[in-house]
Amino acid sequence: MFSDKDIAHFSNLETPFYYYDLNLLERTLKACEEASSVYKFHVHYAMKANFNPIVLKQIEKIGFGADCVSGGEVKKAIEVGFSKDKVVFAGVGKSDKEINDALDNDIFCFNVESVQELQVINELAEAKQKVAKVAIRINPNVDAHTHANITTGLDENKFGVNSWDMPACAAILNISPNLEFVGIHFHIGSQITNMDVYKNLCIRVNEFAAWFEDHGFKVTILNVGGGLGIDYHNPNGQIPDFKSYFKIFSDFLEVKPYQEVHFELGRALVGQSASLISKVLYVKNGKKKNFIILDAGMTELMRPALYQAYHKIENISPKSEVNSPESAIVKYDVVGPICESTDCFGKEVELPETFRNDLIAIRSTGAYGEVMASHYNLRENVQIVSSEEIK
Ligand code: LLP
Repeated sequence: MFSDKDIAHFSNLETPFYYYDLNLLERTLKACEEASSVYKFHVHYAMKANFNPIVLKQIEKIGFGADCVSGGEVKKAIEVGFSKDKVVFAGVGKSDKEINDALDNDIFCFNVESVQELQVINELAEAKQKVAKVAIRINPNVDAHTHANITTGLDENKFGVNSWDMPACAAILNISPNLEFVGIHFHIGSQITNMDVYKNLCIRVNEFAAWFEDHGFKVTILNVGGGLGIDYHNPNGQIPDFKSYFKIFSDFLEVKPYQEVHFELGRALVGQSASLISKVLYVKNGKKKNFIILDAGMTELMRPALYQAYHKIENISPKSEVNSPESAIVKYDVVGPICESTDCFGKEVELPETFRNDLIAIRSTGAYGEVMASHYNLRENVQIVSSEEIK
């Protein structure tokens, strides 16, 4: 929800821009921190969701670690001030350079995604006379019941080591003095709203932890990944239900006294804290369709074009007639200016009758929004505005 002051401020700015509500971000982070600390769970923020420094600084301040998936993210996490012993590095295709840089930085742990990667990390660590801490990312074949493009934990997905490769991993770990096995890692998908999925994951984690312990490995870290979804239909001030989420893991994971449970949350921490604010360039009323053409496109927010993702679209124009109860409701296809038919934020969206220069907010864009922006069509860098500027 935007205040009159916010909207008056927006009206004077060049569009499009991402607006970050740092107050909501702080409340969300606190809620997560409080709910996780009840069980002494550790949270690493999945930086891929949003690596804008204003967001990262706030997350680092609350004491979370950083879950990185590239050398660039590892570097940025350390620059922003995340303690190196809270930086984990996952990713199915880590290059030798990325592994070497992470070894030089003495990060906490590599989440290893293939048998071959284990061998490579051992060789590179040996050359540096270092011991790399590793967790094995296991593909548990648990269905996340989410969009197919953001499911990661099924046998047909590229991520992690499959269960049948477990003996090969154990064999390499046994003969690799430059690897220190610390635990197991899972991540089954994103935007998960069905909590039963996490119960199923816990059952699999218990089985895999037992397998490693039976084979003589001490499993100290149980990293269950991230994936907690947000309510895209109700963006106003929504904070995810972290209490229920963490309780599932407390109820269903078998945690030994020497074990730590780690989480890698991205979307749930940052998703609701931003909106993409855009201006209406043109309105086209057709025989079959009405179009609103925005100055923001898939270059600023890729999710609808890529996954047909839903984001709530609101006309926040200050003009009273637009948002008055009497104003006519019209169905519009809300599209961007990019030369692609998939450059569409929503079809048949019901909005008050809308005019050139009205302000449109596309909500819940804090996660996988700004970070997935591109320069396609030689578009300019997307602008950022934070709530701090409006105080
Ligand atoms: N850990 C690993 C290993 C991951 O691959 C991911 C996300 C996360 C944690 C954080 O997941 P989250 O808590 O944010 O769901 N671009 C897509 C989402 C891709 C997620 C990739 N991995 C989207 O816009 O929906």
